Amino acid sequence: MNFKEIYDKSIEKPDEFWREVADDIFWFKKPTKILNKANPPFYKWYEDGVTNTCYNALDLHIQNGLGDKTALIYDSPITGNKSKFTFKELKNKVSKFAGALKNHGIVKGDRVVIYMPMVPEAVIAMLACGRIGAIHSVVFGGFASNELASRIDDSKAKILVTASCGFEPGRTVEYRPLVDGALKLAKHKLDKVIFYQRKDYEIKLNAPLEISWDESLQNAKDTDCEEMNSNDYAYILYTSGTTGVPKGIVRDIGGHIVALKWTMKNIYNIDQEDVWWSASDIGWIVGHSYIVYAPLFKGCTTLLFEGKPVGTPDAGVFWRVISDYKIKSLFTAPTAFRAIKKEDPDGKFFSKYDLSSFKSLFLAGERADPDTIKWAENLLKVPVIDHWWQTETSWAISSNCTGIEMMKTKYGSACKAVPGYDVRIIKQDQTIAKSNEMGDIVVKLPLPPGTFPTLWNADQRYKENYMSNYEGYYQTYDAGHIDEDGYIWIMSRTDDIINVAGHRLSTGAIEEVLSEHKSVAECAVIGIADKLKGQLPIGLLTLKAGVNQDNRIISKECIKMVRDKIGPVAAFKLAIVVKRLPKTRSGKILRGTVRKIADKEEYKMPATIDDPKILDEIKEELIKNNILK
Ligand code: COA
Ligand code: AMP
Repeated sequence: MNFKEIYDKSIEKPDEFWREVADDIFWFKKPTKILNKANPPFYKWYEDGVTNTCYNALDLHIQNGLGDKTALIYDSPITGNKSKFTFKELKNKVSKFAGALKNHGIVKGDRVVIYMPMVPEAVIAMLACGRIGAIHSVVFGGFASNELASRIDDSKAKILVTASCGFEPGRTVEYRPLVDGALKLAKHKLDKVIFYQRKDYEIKLNAPLEISWDESLQNAKDTDCEEMNSNDYAYILYTSGTTGVPKGIVRDIGGHIVALKWTMKNIYNIDQEDVWWSASDIGWIVGHSYIVYAPLFKGCTTLLFEGKPVGTPDAGVFWRVISDYKIKSLFTAPTAFRAIKKEDPDGKFFSKYDLSSFKSLFLAGERADPDTIKWAENLLKVPVIDHWWQTETSWAISSNCTGIEMMKTKYGSACKAVPGYDVRIIKQDQTIAKSNEMGDIVVKLPLPPGTFPTLWNADQRYKENYMSNYEGYYQTYDAGHIDEDGYIWIMSRTDDIINVAGHRLSTGAIEEVLSEHKSVAECAVIGIADKLKGQLPIGLLTLKAGVNQDNRIISKECIKMVRDKIGPVAAFKLAIVVKRLPKTRSGKILRGTVRKIADKEEYKMPATIDDPKILDEIKEELIKNNILK
């Protein structure tokens, strides 16, 4: 079948389509009920199926004779470590750590928070949870104590698995103060904290709460896979929402395995014998889906990379890794390529390596600017594919489905809707847009398997936030248009989310932190364009009456507060004190106008602005801070 036939079938006969796809995974009990539509927007896929995430990632391949094949490659230019694990070796480690978790009281349905750097033990911990039916919640290592605490509290985890440290270029990230801070802030008490002691960086542990990874394994037995209902949860991944309170995106087990395995061939054209690399972090959805789950479900080899595209040690590291392991396809964020392009515009490093294995580059996480795509195409001489997706969906909503049919590239578009997703544009008057008309991008319900069936303990928030503004549709909070050929163009977010180096952040959450400063009366955080990171947050602050502290000190304190409370990943480096925030007469802060000024875009002076002079004051500050020249 060609792409159109496959796509049409997925939309017109979703039951039949996803029943056939589900045959490709291992079930303890095959589902007879494919899609339950009885209680919209809470749809259920494969509700009477019984399966296991870890079984599909490891045991199944061993059973099929692939036990001695490499499942996981670890390459850490930041520490100089490299290792490989076959499916059998990985299974043995996972099954032992699953036993350790069991020894510490973890049973089916319990939550385990994983706060770790990019080491194989992080993958082992994730898979061990799947093995015994525990729900993991991975927290990105670049988040600070506050974020870790809020996830411990919301998930009511029993165990935290963490490490003695992470390594960032030029600095060691000590996890001890971050973990201590989180445990102090969290209202919920953990039963155990398991620390993975990194080589040459062992820390003192406080018994009985804390034990080391190695100690936890001492009495651990090999542990079999638990039989799980398809609609039980595999994991919770918290993501930024429209407020500072993170949303717990949940993933049900059966649909996750079915959909992700299908994507490896159909979207990425990856077969079992291929080596695949997703240069992301396990703390993000791209890391969950494409470092760990999808490639292992497929039975191909996946690579875990602890480094950066530049500086570890140079802008040639991606080419070195591709050449060393004969990588077929790489998936990363456009910002990584902007970083390489900045350091090595002429591709001098590239020419040193043999990249004959390399067949395609996939980009997502933020808009891929045409300049970067063209630069990468010229250098790599392979298709460069921009595809669009979200934590909520766990796999691409739109993409060039290269395993079905290679489509032509339209620079600036994330290609066409992937089978399973009926994507529409709805205008402000609630009518469906015609070709090329802008509006909110929505997906007709039901969403396909592998997407989020609800939010952790928050059915109402799921319904109100995503499924209520447009009856019968999932609201993506992205805006854009679909052209006459069905290509989707993602133009902007419609909420307060910004994308900083492919990392999803809420400006509302940063504002919540700034407003806690004792001298700050009001604040606004705006995402402005940045050549490297795509977007960067800047803050505007007004001070309480009578404050006579130096503005520069207040600004520095605010920057530190954001780093301490949200984390370095927010890259919040500029807070400007202004006399008044620019507002309409009804009190709405003119964030869009300030963003346009900072990005040197044309803007109209809003007719309802209460004091136009304030925009001049902001312009001056932006010039002083080298944002505007
Ligand atoms: N643990 C602790 N700190 C972390 C961290 C982690 N796992 N990841 C990032 N940070 C810190 C960095 O050290 C940096 O701190 P600093 O302010 O002290 O320098 C800060 O968070 C910002 O990090 P980052 O966004 O990585 O910026 P950078 O300037 O260090 O590097 C790039 C820029 C473009 C090289 C980098 O952003 C990159 O590799 N991006 C790839 C994008 C990606 O993987 N996105 C995931 C979604 S697909
Ligand atoms: P996350 O949940 O962190 O994956 O972030 C999802 C958001 O990133 C989307 O809602 C988009 O705003 C943005 N995004 C992801 N991929 C793309 C893309 N290919 N083009 C434009 N924006 C994207």
